[in-house]
Amino acid sequence: MEAIRIHSFGGPEVLKAEEAPTPEPGADEVLIKIYASGVNPVDWKIREGMNKERFPTHFPLIPGWDLSGVIEKTGRDVNNFKKGDEVYSRPDLTKNGTYAEYVAVKASLVALKPKTIDHVHAAAVPLAGLTAWQGLFDYGKLKAGEKVLIHAASGGVGSFAVQFAKWKGAYVIGTTSEKNIDFVKSLGADEVIDYKKEKFEERLKNIDLVFDTLGGEIQEKSFHVLREGGRLITTVKPESTDESKSKHIRVEGFSANSIPEELTQIAGLIDRGKIKPIVGKVFPLEQAAEAQRLSKEGHVRGKIVLEVVHEK
Ligand SMILES: NC(=O)c1ccc[n+]([C@@H]2O[C@H](COP(=O)([O-])OP(=O)(O)OC[C@H]3O[C@@H](n4cnc5c(N)ncnc54)[C@H](OP(=O)(O)O)[C@@H]3O)[C@@H](O)[C@H]2O)c1
Repeated sequence: MEAIRIHSFGGPEVLKAEEAPTPEPGADEVLIKIYASGVNPVDWKIREGMNKERFPTHFPLIPGWDLSGVIEKTGRDVNNFKKGDEVYSRPDLTKNGTYAEYVAVKASLVALKPKTIDHVHAAAVPLAGLTAWQGLFDYGKLKAGEKVLIHAASGGVGSFAVQFAKWKGAYVIGTTSEKNIDFVKSLGADEVIDYKKEKFEERLKNIDLVFDTLGGEIQEKSFHVLREGGRLITTVKPESTDESKSKHIRVEGFSANSIPEELTQIAGLIDRGKIKPIVGKVFPLEQAAEAQRLSKEGHVRGKIVLEVVHEK
């Protein structure tokens, strides 16, 4: 099969388009023909060799851990999927990924894809959608009527988080830059703050939950806008400060899990028209290096997706 592989850690130039063996599914796995693969910041972080203790270090390695495709073959013990099922998934981050024509994934990590969208849009959902869902609901315990501040509201994770929080009935405030203000409002945000022109920490107070994907100084300033006993949930490094401690703020970082029941719930919301995956840029598989360069710049609207099979 055609795949993008790396043989060492390094810059985008280590991503090579080459022939690789088509995997055979194990007893509890399905072989998926990939139509599209989402691109996420974790892809270039792994390529650069960051967080080696958590991520794969075997070579050659196929990156990418986000897919939409069609079941080609099922393992001996798999009885919940059959050949031809259209599925989406966030595969195991420690194994070969989805910048390829095929991948073998444990059936317990796979869900039926939303029926009303194409593979390119479905591939944008699993990793970022699960992260937003788990950050807001599983960890953040967001409830209707609460005020939530979502940083980087125009990004891959943020664009889902704004829509999920609004769907839940929260009052949603997002940060982004000027070019994305109308876009973030169109996702359902009640207020949008241009981070280049205004200091969110001076405008906001009494926030119940901050969902942070940026960390550092932005995370630290977020403690200032939270109410006493509020929550800060982050996809990057959590750091408590004197202010977070004195205000009894729950500060928690997390790594999103691959939970197919949540993907099924998200697919239902998409098919009922409540949630729309946002794809900012599509590249052919061969241009994975270009896609990762763009991802690392950190200014994409919504998601980047690699198209593996061109659908008419
Ligand atoms: N822990 C986990 O399980 C997990 C899962 C997913 C992601 N993550 C991490 O979460 C982070 C975000 O991921 P992502 O996929 O959402 O990233 P992304 O799509 O690359 O985010 C890009 C967006 O961030 C906005 N942005 C950049 N700087 C900003 C600032 N100072 N204030 C407000 N908005 C800003 C940009 O808007 P402008 O163009 O307007 O600046 C752009 O729309 C990454 O570090 C990723 O590795 C962790």
